[in-house]
Amino acid sequence: MHKDLQEILIPTAELDAGVKKLGERISKDYAGRCVTLVGVLKGCTLFLADLARSISLDVRLDFMMLSSYSGEHSTGVVRILLDLKESIEDCDVLIVEDIVDSGLTMEYMLQNLKTRRPRSLEICTLLDKPSRRKANVPIKYTGFTIADKFVVGYGLDYNGIYRNLPYVGVLNASAIEGKKICR
Ligand code: IMP
Ligand code: MG
Repeated sequence: MHKDLQEILIPTAELDAGVKKLGERISKDYAGRCVTLVGVLKGCTLFLADLARSISLDVRLDFMMLSSYSGEHSTGVVRILLDLKESIEDCDVLIVEDIVDSGLTMEYMLQNLKTRRPRSLEICTLLDKPSRRKANVPIKYTGFTIADKFVVGYGLDYNGIYRNLPYVGVLNASAIEGKKICR
């Protein structure tokens, strides 16, 4: 375990099994269709790579980057930093997110993407932290529901670090206060 963590919440084997299950459900639900996976950068990266490989359908990948967070706390203000490359009109779109916390990011994404007239629009999140929800967003696919803890790994970061950990873990208080930088 990484020395900045206090515990591993979801070990690699559980992540793998959970992601595989999601892929199987999605493959069944969208059978005969092509799915456009819209990854929310950067947290989606590891999850999306594994999820896409567990979907047995034709898939397109596109990405958005939003900002709503600085450090450990949500600012509630969402901005588009990077937009989709392709049109999603008449497409079956599945938003792929690392974690839904307040729900404000997903609420904004849904509103924004709906205006582009997709055929269908759903959310797939690796983690759901329902205890701090402010916006009631419908989540179709959830990998794991977790308690109100700040987690890192498997795409999730603190100050840009820890995304490459192959498991999801809880940071030490000292690592949060220490705010490591990577140079
Ligand atoms: P929301 O808008 O509050 O739902 O926040 C969503 C975004 O905040 C996620 O996409 C994450 O990037 C980030 N976030 C929320 N909780 C955590 C966490 O526990 N660890 C790392 N990032 C988080
Ligand atoms: Mg994110």
